[in-house]
Amino acid sequence: LPGAEVLVVSNREPYIHNAMEAGRVVQRPASGLVSALEPIMRACGGTWIAHGSGSADREAVDENDRIRVSEVAPAYTLRRIWISEEEQDGYYYGFANEGLWPLCHIVFVRPTFRLTDWQMYRQINQRFADAVVAEAHTEDPVVLVQDYHFALAPRMIRERLPKATIITFWHIPWPNAETFGICPWRAEIIEGMLGSTIVGFHTQFHCNNFIEGVDRFVESRIDREVQTVSLGGHETRVRAYPISIEWPPSELEKLPPPAHCRSDVVAQFGLAEGTRLIVGVERFDYTKGILDRMRAVDALLSRNLAWRDRLVFVQVAAPTRSKLSSYSKLQAEAEELAAEINGSYPGRQPVIHLIARHYEPAEVFRLFRAANACVVSSLHDGMNLVAKEFVSSREDNAGVLILSSFTGASRELSEALIVNPYDTEEMASAIELALTMPIQEQAERMKLMRQQVKEHNVYRWAGAMLVDAARSRTRERVLG
Ligand code: G6P
Repeated sequence: LPGAEVLVVSNREPYIHNAMEAGRVVQRPASGLVSALEPIMRACGGTWIAHGSGSADREAVDENDRIRVSEVAPAYTLRRIWISEEEQDGYYYGFANEGLWPLCHIVFVRPTFRLTDWQMYRQINQRFADAVVAEAHTEDPVVLVQDYHFALAPRMIRERLPKATIITFWHIPWPNAETFGICPWRAEIIEGMLGSTIVGFHTQFHCNNFIEGVDRFVESRIDREVQTVSLGGHETRVRAYPISIEWPPSELEKLPPPAHCRSDVVAQFGLAEGTRLIVGVERFDYTKGILDRMRAVDALLSRNLAWRDRLVFVQVAAPTRSKLSSYSKLQAEAEELAAEINGSYPGRQPVIHLIARHYEPAEVFRLFRAANACVVSSLHDGMNLVAKEFVSSREDNAGVLILSSFTGASRELSEALIVNPYDTEEMASAIELALTMPIQEQAERMKLMRQQVKEHNVYRWAGAMLVDAARSRTRERVLG
């Protein structure tokens, strides 16, 4: 797309400025969306519009609420949008995270829909759409709308910038029509998204679910052969673009080799010699199956006494959305379960280290390099980039990935040990298999997975969408 202006819209910002005792610090949030988009924006340049959520965010911007992110050229501009606490309660905690998040992740947390949350969601979508219009210097920019926080923005942007190329990417699953029908504003959500030129999901399965929802709830014309939907004379293409990570991840450049990382982590946790280390890293989210994997570790220990002195599980879980009881309850439950499991094996090193704090990317990669196995046991996940990051960190071709079959990533990383996270005994067996897997087999599996992620990296994800966008721009220009 030579010469086109690129604007990204997402709720979470790539850099958060926080006021700490020591002064202003910059944090990188735990967000798959941010990990994927940031290298793309560093490569393309452009403007990234996002919620200014840090306590020192306002002091860091200029009079137009902008800040240059200039680590590597071509840098991009971060434009921050301010959201009041009341708006945040309705738009972010309410409609996005108590409504759409559980609705799309079918993990038995009942979605809650309140009219006031919906009104705030609409209001904030309008605010971001207005910012796109204000930031655009051309009549036909490429706007990359990110995730479930902005289902309505594409149509709002289209109304004001009819020639824009709007690519909306939904980073989480899309449920079947029966489930989606629970949402009182199902038609408005779908119509909002159909303001886009392209709507992208991680898997074909989610594209099919979306088209099924369009068919059921909106009066439109669907062409299943080419996967397009026409509504009010505007055509939207629906396609799968599996997201990925930067290759090689820039974080790895500064990191010592795996053996060095291993001794750092052994010292950090005071691990006994010969300990086998399993790790898990995510936000403290009920979709991630954190309790389920702790139960699996426990099941393995009670099944096979020999592991009791040789196995340690380090789970990093960054507190997230803690204002919602479904999240704070999970954290309390996990802490209780970890204490209970540790308590049942007295007189030995703790089996479970539950670290409820945010890890910066460098710390995460160090832990990955030190591990014998990494467990990703999501109950439902659009893609899951932790799995791909673990693989990317293992230049030594060692370590085993245990991966839930309910992640998008399991379609691509088939050399992982694929598990059903609801089946505790199966997961316990997979952990045991991982910890006893010959180094040769680990290497064979790891090499194939590394090749896959290297080839299908995040530049390819963005490239595929931009190629499709370029095609549709040319077609519009030619056909009018
Ligand atoms: C998921 C969502 C992202 C979100 C991230 C972190 O990956 O798809 O949109 O940024 O979780 O959640 P948070 O609510 O902290 O931004």
